[in-house]
Amino acid sequence: MYLTPIEEAMLEGEAGEAVARAMGLLVALGEVFEAEGLIEVESAHVSGVSYKNLGEAGLEYLEEQAELGGRIRIRATLNPAGMDLRRWREMGVPNSFAEGQLRVIEAYRRMGVEATCTCTPYLIGHRPRAGSQVAWAESSAVAYVNSVLGARTNRETGPTALASAMTGRAPLYGYRLEEGRRPTILVDVRSRLTSRLDYGALGYLIGEVAGRSVPYIRGVRSASIEQLKALSAAIATSGGIALYHIEGLTPEAREMTPHIGGLERIVVREDSLEEVVERFHGELEDPVVCLGCPHCSLRELMEAARLLERLGGERLWAFTSRGVYEKAERLGIVEAIEGAGGRVYRDTCMVVAPLREMGWREVATDSFKAAHYLSSMGFEVRVAPLRELLGGEP
Ligand code: F3S
Repeated sequence: MYLTPIEEAMLEGEAGEAVARAMGLLVALGEVFEAEGLIEVESAHVSGVSYKNLGEAGLEYLEEQAELGGRIRIRATLNPAGMDLRRWREMGVPNSFAEGQLRVIEAYRRMGVEATCTCTPYLIGHRPRAGSQVAWAESSAVAYVNSVLGARTNRETGPTALASAMTGRAPLYGYRLEEGRRPTILVDVRSRLTSRLDYGALGYLIGEVAGRSVPYIRGVRSASIEQLKALSAAIATSGGIALYHIEGLTPEAREMTPHIGGLERIVVREDSLEEVVERFHGELEDPVVCLGCPHCSLRELMEAARLLERLGGERLWAFTSRGVYEKAERLGIVEAIEGAGGRVYRDTCMVVAPLREMGWREVATDSFKAAHYLSSMGFEVRVAPLRELLGGEP
């Protein structure tokens, strides 16, 4: 694999031990995927933040990197942690967990990573430009930046995204290359999509059927940011898709048309989407209703506040980023939700918080990604539109 003199120097330790290790990791990754070399990246989004997933071993690794002088050299934001960094006591998070979590955040801060603690950094100003090379982890955000924004990233892990943040480089293979972005399967949608849930169901179904391919989707006439966010999260969850194109909607779809002739085709009808929803239809007695996987936009919080006003929402927990929370607070939306009995938490989500230790058993949600992971963790789960989860008419 070709390395420039600067990259060689980093690998040899001239920029310090932490950078040398980071470069070693990227070179090893590049060799596995037969990359010709490394490419400069403009920004990184780092996952591997919740103490629930990292444990002591992960925490020690991060503290060691910080101790060795590891510092980022491009913009890097952080995925959700295992708790609201301010209101964790109120969430019922155990002290021992909170201590570990705060040390994780401190280690990242020492390295210069912005403690945004969100999986939707693109909603709070970290929005890579079309065609730019970036190194993002967090599967839902990867699918969103690749497909909706047209930036280029592979599905990075926490350690590789951090290594890219420290070196400003990533191995050149996969979705970073023209040929890696071409569609490999056609999806014809023959169902009307209206709610966020419909887009989530479509994503979940395509991910299941199409595995790790690059779908070219036809028949979707419009989609809001929130609907594309739901689609991106679900499509990346059930199969591992990191890039999709929607005819007439996403930035690279038009230039992909010469490559769709002769591709295998799947047809999605209304009954297949209903069947996906039916799969997460647990009969729950006393669930917590969770909103915000991926993290809520301002519009989603507004919608929740309006519904709560009518239906009440004592058991609603909404998760969002600090950036969106601050705006919602200024607009009185947080107060409206909490005044109706709900809660709005920052920095964390229902999947990466230690729910069992917090005494939870049942979760109702409008997110297929959350439903997928929570049911695999043994929780009773139900998926439905928010209105229905709050007791309104289906
Ligand atoms: Fe984000 Fe947590 Fe869902 S990190 S995409 S809210 S599982």
